[in-house]
Amino acid sequence: MQQNKIVIFDTTLRDGEQVPGCKLNADEKIEIALALENMGVDVIEAGFPVSSPGDFESVKKISRVIKNSVVCGLSRAVKKDIEVAALALRFAQRPRIHTGIGTSDFHIKSKFNSTRDEILQRAIQSVKWARNFTDDVEFYAEDAGRTENEFLARVIEAVIKAGATTVNIPDTTGYCLPHQYGEKIAYLIHHVSNIDKAVISCHCHNDLGMATANSIAGIMNGARQIECTINGLGERAGNTSLEEVVMVIQQHASLNAFTSVNSKKLTSLSQLVSDTMRVPVQPNKAIVGSNAFSHSSGIHQDGFLKDAQTYEIINPEQVGANQSKIVLTARSGRSALAFRFQKLGFNFDRNDIDSLYNQFLKVADRKKEVGDEDLQEMANQYQALAVSV
Ligand code: KIV
Ligand code: ZN
Repeated sequence: MQQNKIVIFDTTLRDGEQVPGCKLNADEKIEIALALENMGVDVIEAGFPVSSPGDFESVKKISRVIKNSVVCGLSRAVKKDIEVAALALRFAQRPRIHTGIGTSDFHIKSKFNSTRDEILQRAIQSVKWARNFTDDVEFYAEDAGRTENEFLARVIEAVIKAGATTVNIPDTTGYCLPHQYGEKIAYLIHHVSNIDKAVISCHCHNDLGMATANSIAGIMNGARQIECTINGLGERAGNTSLEEVVMVIQQHASLNAFTSVNSKKLTSLSQLVSDTMRVPVQPNKAIVGSNAFSHSSGIHQDGFLKDAQTYEIINPEQVGANQSKIVLTARSGRSALAFRFQKLGFNFDRNDIDSLYNQFLKVADRKKEVGDEDLQEMANQYQALAVSV
């Protein structure tokens, strides 16, 4: 069976950069954009050009240097926004305008004080304006996660008719459960007559920690693009994490899907974004956290040392991480201790390790982690004692 290509749309430079304190200058954005392109990301959302002169300049500069990936600029369903986005993107080899409007009743009533019919007309008009500048137009139905399916389907059908080539179904507030989000995508596939003329995109936020699960539910039900950010950065609790979706797709053959991302570059990109945006990666972050390939409890270490697959579903090399780590704490066992001594060049037998283990536990109870220097000292003392006896 032919595998489905999942388009990876990175929005680190737009939704990710909306994190307070994460403002990047144009040079920093260019460095990240080039690294994203080099890793095989299909679409780079470079910014929201009308939002500030700085963002406009960054999108313009990124458009000049990116050669293979599509460069995308965000806009509201406002003529001026779309014109400014088109201007910022004019040097891009493959420009995309991403325009849209809120479609849930929360947005229609509270934000726009409008009606469904008016919103539908604005949606159609925005796509037509954008099509004057490029054939690659993506429409977002903001807060689609809480938009009634029947109205959402009407909007999506109309914007595809107006020329949208990708339709984005954002769970803007991160509210949906995975099966609900999946059912929404399935509903659109079954109720939008021209859906075969556009790619359906998932854009999920992480307010309830379900962004990755929801995006995967989306592709299981027919979506073919995922919008995501490096390290899951983004508004509030963040967006879908790029490294997570790429690895879920790579690890689960049953999804029958693939991406163009070179997963070996995930760790270095995560570090680049963390350093540039000055947002540390939480140690237990899936795929790229510093503990993602660390083993510290005795039971796990013993199993891991017998066969890495006992406790690891991903080989760290697959994501460009250093070797797995055996961390020595008061919860570690004898096999981990022997392994770490061996790495330092000491080949102690079972009796030696039994004697050293008690000494090790005393040190481990005092310190959070027992390091190479502690082991070296223990080994020296033990050997000196053996010689003197
Ligand atoms: O979360 C959202 O709805 C968005 C849109 C602007 C695409 O970021
Ligand atoms: Zn968003």
